[in-house]
Amino acid sequence: MDVNEVPLLEVRDLKVHFVIKKRIGGVKGVVRAVDGVSLKIRKGDVIALVGESGCGKTTLGKAIAGLVKPTEGTILWKGRDVWKMYREDPKGFFEYKLRVQYMPQDPYSAFNPSKTVFEILCTPLLKWKRVTSRAECIDYVLKILSDIKVTPPEEYIFRYPHQLSGGERQRILFALITSVEPDVVVADEPITAVDVALRVDLMNLMLEYWERRRVAYVFISHELASARYITEKTGGKIGVMYLGKFVEFGPPRAVIENPLHPYTQALVDAAPELDLEIARKKRLRLREVDIPSATNPPKGCRFHTRCPYAMDICTEKEPPLIEVENGRYVRCWLYAKR
Ligand SMILES: Nc1ncnc2c1ncn2[C@@H]1O[C@H](COP(=O)(O)OP(=O)(O)OP(=O)(O)O)[C@@H](O)[C@H]1O
Ligand SMILES: [Mg+2]
Repeated sequence: MDVNEVPLLEVRDLKVHFVIKKRIGGVKGVVRAVDGVSLKIRKGDVIALVGESGCGKTTLGKAIAGLVKPTEGTILWKGRDVWKMYREDPKGFFEYKLRVQYMPQDPYSAFNPSKTVFEILCTPLLKWKRVTSRAECIDYVLKILSDIKVTPPEEYIFRYPHQLSGGERQRILFALITSVEPDVVVADEPITAVDVALRVDLMNLMLEYWERRRVAYVFISHELASARYITEKTGGKIGVMYLGKFVEFGPPRAVIENPLHPYTQALVDAAPELDLEIARKKRLRLREVDIPSATNPPKGCRFHTRCPYAMDICTEKEPPLIEVENGRYVRCWLYAKR
């Protein structure tokens, strides 16, 4: 891969802050949902975002797909600032929104309950001009359904969302997102709502599609097992987020078998089923404090209030995200030059 080539998508020092207003006027606080994230996505890249609830995964995913406007920082699509395009080149912005698709976290809210599978799948095909008539759409939708193994397709095409199983609904959602042949799919916790037995099936469907089209995935997950599954099979990377920032980023094997950041170590420890070797290792305990909020993140290193290794500097100065090995980054004073 030519590293000098312009990435499909680039996120530069992105911040998304939400202003929380008081009921009677005035500002109650600012939620720093995403607070300084940089990222490059090239064709076929797979990046798994992991971290606990509220760390900003969905907000970052939505910002990548142009669904949330950044407070600061830039998002570039093939080198062009997308929010500048929004103002000055609506066609360019339309193309970017078509090529970067967001698969929502809640599959139940994703469908209009009064629309059939046919109508659900046909609407974007017409909107994005993949087909020109409803008649043409029927053949297209039948093919999509057999591709995702929702068979026999004739039986499913006129069903309503409530007549589908959770797994079928998620497959159809994936088909809906991919029907416009995007270059980047942001899949927000795609397996969380799926029965455990069907999770691997859904990830395999995503992997088959990746094999065929070399789509790039931003795969959001709050646990490491699925992040590992999808990134190991695609040469992808895992990005661990804590209060709106990456604390560690790198290849799955390195991040999971040799986590550097104390927060990643705690995440790995919380998932002993990942690997029996890891389960046998001594458990790392986080200091018992309330989880800090994104409205008022701790000064210095955001993790210091829970970190078992916190030093003086950690309470004062934020550590930089440094590259410790090729493609492996960590944000922690244990590894950075002071
Ligand atoms: N529209 C909004 N207005 C105000 N605050 C918001 C908004 N959307 C998200 N937040 C806040 O931003 C922070 C990050 O939320 P986000 O949904 O991105 O987290 P997440 O990592 O996806 O969490 P989860 O694992 O629960 O899905 C949270 O504190 C959340 O309450
Ligand atoms: Mg989320």
